[in-house]
Amino acid sequence: METRSQSLQPTIQPFHDSKTPDVKQGGGEHKPRIAVYPGSFDPVTYGHLDIIHRSANLFDRVVIAVTQNVGKAPFLDLDERLDLLREVTKDIDEVEVTSFGGLLVDFARSIGASIVIRGLRAVSDFEFELQMALTNRSLDPNLETIFLTPRGKFIFLSSGLVRELCLLDGPLERFVPDSVARVLRRKREELRARP
Ligand code: PNS
Repeated sequence: METRSQSLQPTIQPFHDSKTPDVKQGGGEHKPRIAVYPGSFDPVTYGHLDIIHRSANLFDRVVIAVTQNVGKAPFLDLDERLDLLREVTKDIDEVEVTSFGGLLVDFARSIGASIVIRGLRAVSDFEFELQMALTNRSLDPNLETIFLTPRGKFIFLSSGLVRELCLLDGPLERFVPDSVARVLRRKREELRARP
């Protein structure tokens, strides 16, 4: 007969599948866990920053990778996006900022990253994010995508919304750090000054 203490024993066996990367390297020599957080960051928002802080608490190194090939013409130049990201993350030791072209899986491999971080906000993000995660997995089964959710107040915040607010002279400071707001306004004035 099963005793009470036996019935409290966990019945779920630790999951191990040789095709699934070992996210947390347990025991022995600690292998640094490197995560890549890719995106357009056009511009970086408080929502991104929330995800960056969460990632820095989870991983040894977080490489923020700004894509060079956005498809659409970006609002901010690549260098502006990189400079702003470096400025707003300068106090987070685990973080570094760089750019990449080509496939994310190739970039991740080149820096030894085994994790891709993506922020997941409302349900509307889900389909695209799932598609991207599954595509990346089929391209490289050793690369795991992890979704993090920002604080509730940032759930509906997006770079697109910030760009629109900027172009329509809306308030920016509650959505992006001051340094980002300044660059956005300067960019807006540059655009307006164009013939
Ligand atoms: O911030 P975004 O625009 O949602 O980021 C999208 C991004 C840059 C992560 C995605 O477009 C990407 O990974 N681009 C690199 C090209 C690539 O690897 N494409 C195949 C994966 S779907």
